[in-house]
Amino acid sequence: MNTTPDPDQIPEAPIDVEDLRPHVYDGIQEYDKRLPNWWLFTLYGTIVFVVGYWAIMHTMGLASDPGAKVTEQIMAARAAAVKNSPEINDAKLWAMSKDPAVVATGKQIFDTMCASCHRPDLMGMIGPNLRDQQWVFGGAPMVAVKTITEGVLLKGMPAWGPILGQEKVSQAAAYIFSFHTEGEAVEIKPWVPVGVPGLPAPAVPASTAAPGAPPGTAQ
Ligand code: HEC
Repeated sequence: MNTTPDPDQIPEAPIDVEDLRPHVYDGIQEYDKRLPNWWLFTLYGTIVFVVGYWAIMHTMGLASDPGAKVTEQIMAARAAAVKNSPEINDAKLWAMSKDPAVVATGKQIFDTMCASCHRPDLMGMIGPNLRDQQWVFGGAPMVAVKTITEGVLLKGMPAWGPILGQEKVSQAAAYIFSFHTEGEAVEIKPWVPVGVPGLPAPAVPASTAAPGAPPGTAQ
């Protein structure tokens, strides 16, 4: 005997006629069906959550609002950026070069980072003499700061800006300019490395030697 029910014989699920709505669209009659509990509880849950969240985050200020936190962090980062890049100019650097505390800090930086190429007495070797009035790029403190910050990569002078930061670069420059006086006459002249093993000693005409400069250091 075949037990498979004939589809035509399967009774339709009983429809509560009371629940049928009069609205018909596209031949489908609307049926008023209760929403499942999981759906309703999710909806009620979100309503309760939103009230609680709004009260805690925005009204009572019990927890810090993530938006405010981000703004705070942006402000802190900006403040730090301003601190790391204080406005500097020639006048400020000349003033720093007369401040013994700044010059002492600058000397420490110079002795550690720069003396290997410029010599501890600044008289020049791989890098130019920073004590005389002859400059490769110019005798203004801001010119030196630019060279120190950006380096002269082709000649072997590293870019110190990213390594030291602007404050230390300024202090090193202040130390260099403690050997100089504002308004002194300067000369722009290329530097020929001296005293470096493996490089020929430069021929220095006696007439161009700076007075009192050790032999071979005048450029
Ligand atoms: C690896 C070697 C080396 C080191 C280390 C070095 N320098 Fe230099 N420096 C050079 C060379 C090379 C030049 C550029 C020479 C040129 O352009 O002919 C130069 C140029 C300069 C100039 C420009 C001088 C001018 O006459 O215009 C300044 C200022 C200077 N250095 C300062 C510094 C300071 C400050 C430090 C340390 C933070 C430093 N240097 C570390 C090699 C060095």
